[in-house]
Amino acid sequence: MTGIKILGTGYCVPEKVIKNDDYKAFVDTNDEWIRTRTGISERHISMGEPTWLLGTNAAKKAISAAKIAVSDIGLIILTSVTADFFSPSTSSIIQNEIGAIGSMVIDVNCACAGFVYALDMAQRYLATDDDLKTVLVVSAENLSKITDYTDRSTCVLFGDAAAACVVERSENGLYSSFLGADGTGGKFLFARSIPQDNVFMSDKTQILPKDFPVSQTNSLVQNGKEVYKFAVKILPLAVEKAAEKAKISLDEIALIIPHQANIRIIETASKNLGISMDKFYVNLENYGNTSSASIPLALAEAVEKGKLLRGDKICLVGFGAGLTYGAVILEY
Ligand code: ACO
Repeated sequence: MTGIKILGTGYCVPEKVIKNDDYKAFVDTNDEWIRTRTGISERHISMGEPTWLLGTNAAKKAISAAKIAVSDIGLIILTSVTADFFSPSTSSIIQNEIGAIGSMVIDVNCACAGFVYALDMAQRYLATDDDLKTVLVVSAENLSKITDYTDRSTCVLFGDAAAACVVERSENGLYSSFLGADGTGGKFLFARSIPQDNVFMSDKTQILPKDFPVSQTNSLVQNGKEVYKFAVKILPLAVEKAAEKAKISLDEIALIIPHQANIRIIETASKNLGISMDKFYVNLENYGNTSSASIPLALAEAVEKGKLLRGDKICLVGFGAGLTYGAVILEY
């Protein structure tokens, strides 16, 4: 099967670090609650660095680590739920910033599973287009833009970050993916875009998707308990299904890089899969939940810290708004 090889990774986080106790200035919370309920201690928050800029910086680092010429990039896939512009796409902005003029550009919105979806798209393009040499996948998020800092149940969870990787085709490589979504849970995690309003509208009542609650905010609204229930079920299932499709046993996986939402979700998955926690890469303590950037950020950090050896079988697994989910297995 056509696999993919990760040639280089990179990440960029805003300089400003917000610690748990800093939230006391806005909401009734404390370090102990946040650490024990989520595992998060601090996160990086943008002081104005836009999503496209974080993404561009991460992309430049990944390209430099990959030691490729920018002209070798035939496709840029960008994932985000917090783009700065409706149009043009963030991938097209990043293309211009890095000078990969002529490459295909695609933006993907699959929330926290975005990077896994994008990597799967990269594999499929590489498998079917012989002229395509390398794909740049960038995940960039400014969740602080859509966070309600008066809602203690969500504001403490999120951080801002971008991460990227460059991949090329690997003939006869190990590769499998298991992706999906459960749209019935879309109502549990959403952020509205600009409300519809124009000179022709007399009735400003919101017309909502099936089962969505009325909301007056454009910030992120989450039913934490429902998302939690979904996450602890889908994370282990996606890993098992991807391993089954790759025809490997779970013991063969050297490292699982899960979406970094909550340490309790990862610990439950570890228990249910019978895979020890030291096989899971976790860095949410220092970054919080950075949506689609969280998996590539953890991947880039794992590479930086020497936690991955060439040839290691790894599983990247995410879940998020939609409710989307996905796991891919490949050889690092
Ligand atoms: N500080 C102090 N107390 C708090 C805080 C806070 N920051 N937030 C909530 N509480 C309180 C609640 O008000 C509640 O108090 P009450 O009992 O007096 O009503 C109590 O703590 C317990 O609240 P729960 O919601 O039951 O807390 P829970 O243990 O479920 O943890 C959490 C909440 C962390 C949000 C959890 O449900 C969770 O992690 N859910 C999954 C979220 C997730 O993974 N989202 C990401 C999806 S990915 C994406 O697309 C962005």
